[in-house]
Amino acid sequence: EGLGALAVKAGLQYFGTAIDNVVLDNKNYTSIAFNVSEFNQVTPSNGMKWMYFEPQRNVFNATLADQIVKPARKAGQLRRCHTFIWHNQLPGWLTSRNWTAPELTAVLENHIKAEARYFKDDCIAWDVVNEAFNDDGTWRDTIWLRTLGKSYIELAFTFARKYVGKKTMLYYNDYNVERVNNKSLAVVELVKDFKKRDIPIDGVGLQAHFTVGRSPSYNETSASIAQFNKLGMEVAITELDVRLALPDTAEKSEAQAKVYADTVKACVDAKDCVGVTVWDFWDPVSWVPETFPGNGNACLWTEGFVKKPAYYAIQKVF
Ligand code: XIL
Repeated sequence: EGLGALAVKAGLQYFGTAIDNVVLDNKNYTSIAFNVSEFNQVTPSNGMKWMYFEPQRNVFNATLADQIVKPARKAGQLRRCHTFIWHNQLPGWLTSRNWTAPELTAVLENHIKAEARYFKDDCIAWDVVNEAFNDDGTWRDTIWLRTLGKSYIELAFTFARKYVGKKTMLYYNDYNVERVNNKSLAVVELVKDFKKRDIPIDGVGLQAHFTVGRSPSYNETSASIAQFNKLGMEVAITELDVRLALPDTAEKSEAQAKVYADTVKACVDAKDCVGVTVWDFWDPVSWVPETFPGNGNACLWTEGFVKKPAYYAIQKVF
């Protein structure tokens, strides 16, 4: 049995993976990616992002997203949708202009409305806003903050609630929030404020892009999940990967396995952590080497499609 099937037996809704379009012609890849026993949930790595879904103003394109959503649906895999509002991967028409606040609000609503309605009940969850805070807990300087002020986040969640399927959970998603620290405390404050003012939000996604030697412990991750559960938020581990400084060694692979296992176990043991998604499972498509030069081998399968110690360590947790 694969990790997805085992996760369900362990009480999670899912164990899933992000899938990228660039390897969909690789049968070795797709036979794992769309295997519901291995992964009973998928997240499109790129196709739902603004630059792909609305490449020109008011011109919508679901081609890349559908290349993943459709086979996933057919395979019986759950879908997480990612993401409406982010500061990266925005189209040029949006970033190369100075908008007034009313204009940008209309652009925001138009985008969320079109994409939310397109995927309607397709997704168990939407990452409504991605990465809005700096590590020190201050608000990240983005086109959204500069033009709309802090209210952009509640606008996004309000529009999302209005247009997505009733059962779709609305998430705030971020990295470096897997410990109780300034950044995760800023998210706690956001959730408290939303609850006080009846702004819809259902969950918090912990991306969990980790590095061997600097990763949160089981207790640290557990404490961060708990601070959100205490506020009534469900939690998901949304983008788990564990990079290491190349070259790989047996010791590093074992350390990596422990980080994967500790993170999955923190989710399994939590009051309300619904599932774990890895940010791709195959090293050659991982975003890591390009983004963090000198780092790599962050995924569960090697380039030759051999399962690593991390895979078996997760299996053991379940
Ligand atoms: C990454 C994708 O995996 C890459 O293919 C793309 O070039 C850049 O974005 N945090 C996120 C994800 O929320 O959307 C990012 O995905 C990785 C970091």
